[in-house]
Amino acid sequence: RPRVLSGIQPTAGSFHLGNYLGAVRQWVALQESHDAFYMVVDLHAITVAQDPAQLRANTRLAVAQLLAAGLDPERCTLFVQSHVPEHAQLGWVMNCLAGFGEASRMTQFKDKSARHGADRTTVGLFTYPMLMVADILLYQADEVPVGEDQRQHLELTRNLAERFNGTYGDTFTIPDPYILKETAKIYDLQDPSAKMSKSTANPKGLINLLDEPKATAKKVKSAVTDTDTVIRFDRAEKPGVSNLLTIHSTLTGASVPELEQKYEGKGYGALKTDLAEIMVDFVTPFRTRTQEYLDDTETLDSILAKGAEKARAVAAETLALTYDRMGLLPAK
Ligand code: TYM
Repeated sequence: RPRVLSGIQPTAGSFHLGNYLGAVRQWVALQESHDAFYMVVDLHAITVAQDPAQLRANTRLAVAQLLAAGLDPERCTLFVQSHVPEHAQLGWVMNCLAGFGEASRMTQFKDKSARHGADRTTVGLFTYPMLMVADILLYQADEVPVGEDQRQHLELTRNLAERFNGTYGDTFTIPDPYILKETAKIYDLQDPSAKMSKSTANPKGLINLLDEPKATAKKVKSAVTDTDTVIRFDRAEKPGVSNLLTIHSTLTGASVPELEQKYEGKGYGALKTDLAEIMVDFVTPFRTRTQEYLDDTETLDSILAKGAEKARAVAAETLALTYDRMGLLPAK
């Protein structure tokens, strides 16, 4: 079985629809066909200031949401990044392999540091991509299911893996991004030219999966479309409508052409009303299941303990090989 690895930050509290459609949904599917490793990346989260109690709670909340979304600890390895110390260890190696200029070109860093201002930008935020490289290479992942915004980090991963292999001999699998065209980028409902994101300007454009279902329905119904009335998929001319069609199609399994036909001659109101109902039907059981997993801390923590153990076995082997290849003297 080919191997996949991916991660999600716990910082947000509730996952948003972009996280789910762009990434987590693929994670659930891939656990059936792949040897899958999925983690909550708490070490990445601390690159910006976190409240300790909140971080702890959000880490469990992220795990509960992943289980509610359909990850099955019998079918995949689910763990918390900081439980596997090899991530930080290989992260250091990757820091020593990456060029300063190369790291400076990471657009996510440039965006985030511009937002935070120089004094509140940590060195950790700068080295964030190299930790992500380590996350992936530790597991010799063949594929990495993510949204479009992570593509550049995947390019860096491939470059550093090739550089290491070229210098020290074949050590790391070169991973491919696994990015589904349709859902690679889910857009903000109020500003369909921007990706849906927690740091979005307008909270009405962001669908949090754990929000009150009624609030979610309202956001869908007030989504920005255009002054036309035709329901047609056209990313350039009709970004708002296209985004709604993508969401509808992914959640129901109906193809976009089928939907275009279904809504022919009907207005945007019909599409939005239907989609609001589809969203409510999706988030309502998701919330209930998340709460159930959250209420049973003991089970949740034991899932994580088993996951960390399985992950460590793989990670330790890769780290030992890496150290050896580089000439770090083994401890006796
Ligand atoms: P994070 O936590 O920001 O997001 C989790 C996943 O959600 C995807 N995503 C989206 N997809 C489509 N449309 C959107 N609007 C949207 N917003 C977010 C992201 O692409 C991501 O796949 N650096 C990573 C976490 C990470 C990681 C890794 C991922 C750390 N180590 C190793 C893969 C492999 C991040 O911050 O994702």
